[in-house]
Amino acid sequence: MRLGLLTSGGDCAGLNAVIRAVVTRAVLGHGWQVLGIRQATHGLLSRPVDAVELTPDGVAGVLNLGGTLLGTTNRDNPFAYPARDGHATDRSAVVAEGYHELRLDALIGVGGDGSLSILRRLAGQGGWKLVGIPKTIDNDVRHTEHAIGFNSAVAIATEAVDRLHVTAASHSRVMVLEVMGRDAGHIALSAGIAGGADVILIPEIPYTMAAICGKIEERRRRRNFSIVVVAESVKGPAGETITYMDAHGQSRYGGIGALIAQEIASRTGAETRVTVLGHVQRGGAPAPLDRVLASAFGVYAVDLVAAARYDRMVAWQNRRVVDVPIAEAVAQYHGVDPDDALVHTARGLGIAFGDEVGRD
Ligand code: F6P
Repeated sequence: MRLGLLTSGGDCAGLNAVIRAVVTRAVLGHGWQVLGIRQATHGLLSRPVDAVELTPDGVAGVLNLGGTLLGTTNRDNPFAYPARDGHATDRSAVVAEGYHELRLDALIGVGGDGSLSILRRLAGQGGWKLVGIPKTIDNDVRHTEHAIGFNSAVAIATEAVDRLHVTAASHSRVMVLEVMGRDAGHIALSAGIAGGADVILIPEIPYTMAAICGKIEERRRRRNFSIVVVAESVKGPAGETITYMDAHGQSRYGGIGALIAQEIASRTGAETRVTVLGHVQRGGAPAPLDRVLASAFGVYAVDLVAAARYDRMVAWQNRRVVDVPIAEAVAQYHGVDPDDALVHTARGLGIAFGDEVGRD
C-alpha cells in the first residue's frame, strides 16, 4: 500500500504531530509506504511530482514543532489557477493525474473546509481514494468539535489577553485585541472567556457602539481598565465590511480593532490601544489538546484507509474520534451559534457582546 499525505490551507500548530501519527500508524502498524506531498496541491502539479518518502525515524521529534514539514498553501486553487497573465486557468486535471504518477493507493489530506472541498472535487475527478483530517485555527469545519490548531490559537490569544490586562491596569486604558478566525468568532469567544474580557465582538452577533461603550463605562466605574476582544471579520460600526487588498489583489480581513478602539475613545474619552495578534496565532508549539487530537486523528484516518472507508473526514465528538462524510462536513459554514452554550457562559459572567438592549 502506498499512502499519500499532504497538508493544505493555512498552517497551524499540530500539523507535524498529525504527520507523525499518520506515518507511525501506516508504517509501523500496517507496513505501508507513506509519500509526503510538498506544498499541498502544488506538489501534485509539479513534474516530477514533488514528494518525499516519510519514515518513523524521519518524523521522530516533530510532535511539538509548529508549522508543517511538508509545506502548505492557501492560494492557487487548481480549478482556478492564476496564470502569469493574471487569468485563472483550470489545472485540476494535471493535479489529479499527479496522484497516479505517484502510484498512490489512497491519500490523506489535512485541511480546512476550503481545502477539503477542493481535494474532494479532485478525488472525484481523478478517481482518488481520499480521507480528510480537519485542521484550522478558525474551527469552522462542521461536525467536529475541534479542528487541529484551534486550541493552540486560543491558548496564544488567551495569553495575549492576560498580558494586556497587566498593562491596561497600569495605564488605566481600554485595550482592544483583534484576533483571527476568518468568518467565525470561535477564537474570540473562547479566548475572551478564558482571558476574562469585558466585551467580546464576534461576526455572528451584531453590536452597537452604544452598548459596547455602556459596558465599558459601567466597567470603569468599578475598575480603571477594560479589555475588548474582537474577531477580525466583525463589521464596522456602520455595518461595513472591513477588509484591505493585499499585493496579490486578494481581499483580507484586518483593521476592525483599530476602528472599534477609535470609536470607544471618541465616545467615552478613554485612552485606547489596539493589538492585532495576526499570524502569531498560527505558529509555535501545539497545545497539548492539539497534540492529542492530531495523534488520535492520524491513527484513525490511517485505519479508515485500512478499512477501505473513503470520502470520510475524521471528527471529534463527545471526547472520541468518529468519521463523517467529507461532503457533509464542508457543505455548510460552521460559525458560532448565537445561542451556543459558551455564549450563555460569557453572558452569565457579565461579558458583553454589544447587542445588549437598553443602551442605544
Ligand atoms: O484560516 C486561517 C487564517 O489564519 C484566518 O484566521 C485568517 O483570516 C487567514 O487564515 C489569514 O490568511 P493568510 O495566511 O493568507 O494571511
